Amino acid sequence: MAYENILVDQKGAVGIITLNRPNALNALNGALIEELNDALDRFEADPEVGAMVLTGSQKAFAAGADIKEMQPKHYMDVYFEDFISRWERISRCRKPVVAAVAGYALGGGCELAMMCDIILAADTAKFGQPEINLGTFPGSGGTQRLTRAVGKAKAMDMILTARMMDAAEAERVGLVSRVFPADELLDEAVKTAEKIAEKSLPAVMMAKESVNRAFETTLAEGVRFERRLFHSTFALEDQKEGMAAFAEKREPQFKDR
Ligand code: CAA
Repeated sequence: MAYENILVDQKGAVGIITLNRPNALNALNGALIEELNDALDRFEADPEVGAMVLTGSQKAFAAGADIKEMQPKHYMDVYFEDFISRWERISRCRKPVVAAVAGYALGGGCELAMMCDIILAADTAKFGQPEINLGTFPGSGGTQRLTRAVGKAKAMDMILTARMMDAAEAERVGLVSRVFPADELLDEAVKTAEKIAEKSLPAVMMAKESVNRAFETTLAEGVRFERRLFHSTFALEDQKEGMAAFAEKREPQFKDR
C-alpha cells in the first residue's frame, strides 16, 4: 500500500509511524486510518520489530477525527459501516506502541494516543476531548479510557466542558508518563521503544497483555491470568537466558522470536 497520510520508518528494532496531514493538523480520516492499520500490520508481522512509536508534527499529534469527512454522514451511514470501529486496530497491537505527542491531541487524536501503551509528551502538548462543542461526544474510547486514566472528576471536566489539559497537568494526573522539551521528544520516544525492543519479545508481549487485562477484569481474575502467563515464561529460552545472564553477571542475549 502506498502511503499518502503517514510516513513510515524503521530504526533498528523500532518501527516509527508519523501522522502526516499537515494541512489538516493530522485530522484522522478514513484513508489515514487504513494506512495506519496497514503499517501496524506490517510492523506486527515483522519479527525484527520489537516496539513501535506513533507520532505527529510539532503543531499536532492529531486534531481529532476529520470533521469535514464526518459532517455529511447520517445515522445509517455511521451505524451501517460501524464508523470508528477500524480506529481500534492500534489497541489490538500485541507489540508495545509508544505515543510521542507534541501540540494538539484532541478528540480522536487524544483517543488514539490513549490506545497506545505509553504516552510521552512534549511540553507543548495539549490534550482535549472537544467533541461536545460539535454537538456530539467522544466516540473512539474517550469516555472510557480517559476516565480510567485520569479518574471521573478530570474526565468529566474535559469531556463536558471541552477544556484542554496541558502537558504538566497531563503528567500530574497520570495521562502521560513523562514530559520532554519538544525538540527532544522523538529521540526520547525512540530510545524508550529501543529499550523495550532489547528485552525478550514474548515476555514484553505477555507483560503488555497482562497489564491490559487489569482494565477488563476483577483483581482475582487478573492475578490468576497474570500467574498463568508468568508460569508460561518459564518455557521460554529467553527466561533461561535472562536468569543465566544475571547469575553469570553479563548482559542477556534475548533471542525468542
Ligand atoms: N477535522 C478536519 N479539519 C481540521 C480539524 C479536524 N478535526 N482540525 C483542524 N482542521 C483543519 C482546519 O479546518 C484548517 O483547515 P483549512 O486551513 O483548510 O481551513 C487546518 O486544519 C488548520 O486548522 P486551524 O486553522 O483551525 O488551526 P488553529 O491553529 O487556528 O486551531 C485547533 C487549531 C484548535 C486544533 C482547531 O483546528 C480545532 O479546534 N480543530 C478541531 C478540534 C476538534 O474539534 N476535534 C475533535 C474532532 S471530533 C472527533 O474526534 C470524534 C471522535 O471522538 C472520534
